[in-house]
Amino acid sequence: MEQKIKELRERVGEAIKSASTDLKELENIRVKFLGKKGELTGLLRGMSQLSAEDRPRIGKIVNEARSQIEQLLAEKNAELKSKELKNKLAAEKIDITLPGRRTIPGKLHPLTLTLNRVKEIFINMGYTVEEGPEVETDYYNFEALNLPKDHPARDTQDSFYITEEILLRTQTSPVQARTMENHEPNSPIRMIAPGRVYRRDDYDASHSPMFTQVEGLVIDKGISFADLKGTLELFLKQMFGNNAKVRLRPSFFPFTEPSTEVDVSCVMCHGEGCKVCKGSGWLEILGAGMVHPHVLEMSGYDPSKVSGFAFGLGVERIAMLSYGIDDLRLFYDNDIRFLNQF
Ligand code: DAH
Repeated sequence: MEQKIKELRERVGEAIKSASTDLKELENIRVKFLGKKGELTGLLRGMSQLSAEDRPRIGKIVNEARSQIEQLLAEKNAELKSKELKNKLAAEKIDITLPGRRTIPGKLHPLTLTLNRVKEIFINMGYTVEEGPEVETDYYNFEALNLPKDHPARDTQDSFYITEEILLRTQTSPVQARTMENHEPNSPIRMIAPGRVYRRDDYDASHSPMFTQVEGLVIDKGISFADLKGTLELFLKQMFGNNAKVRLRPSFFPFTEPSTEVDVSCVMCHGEGCKVCKGSGWLEILGAGMVHPHVLEMSGYDPSKVSGFAFGLGVERIAMLSYGIDDLRLFYDNDIRFLNQF
């Protein structure tokens, strides 16, 4: 028995010594010798067959062997653990002499800045901000705006058609009809609707097949052309400064009657005449008019009870004038050198 224990202890010692790879291997050794079915446990069990005088002596040896083995295991365990930690630290070493990675703060796009300013002005006047789909039906984009299928004014706004009846909207004006339909008939509306619009067009310094508009619609009892003029004057003075002068010219839009083109005194030369305003001193800035009775009717409003005005402006144009940008494509090219200037 004694011999067996001694031999066992040596074997365990060897095994532990050579357990150099990982903690799992060490645990396997522990189970093999000290576990419930382990070899030393087996020896202990065999002690019942020993004589009474041998038992305490052998018991002592077994216990000593056990605690020696435990000690060896604990030492090896600590050794392996520290080795593991050392490897980990070496692998995860941070070179603190490297310069840090700088994060470049993002910026708002000049079109977003311009749109935010437009929104701010109208929100301050009590307008809501509405949205409509960019993939629009022929009905909302044209018919509900008094542009039936055979209307010649459709020619000026060719678009990208998905089907005969579905297209990328050519203007934000369809949000007028959608907003009216969402309201109780004849209830007041004061809204703007910003968003992207699409037209079959070239891509050059002044054209893009995609651009941004802001629509406006005000409906209430007794809204007059004077309200239209006053509101747009106030807006343009806030946008371009108090010295900006505003001029209305008669125009035509199928969904407004009467219709007007709104000009602002040239922001570059202040009316003197320059390259930007082509010598006229004025810049065409938006279209507007009194909502056509037929348009009101089609969306469930009664033109004998309420009236309204509408307007539509191009955000790119306002941004170009505000910042003195002469090529529309700069907005879409995503050139950091350009975008960093705002
Ligand atoms: N939708 C017109 C366009 O894209 C702009 C416009 C003109 C909108 C007059 C209006 C308006 O609401 O009253 O050319």
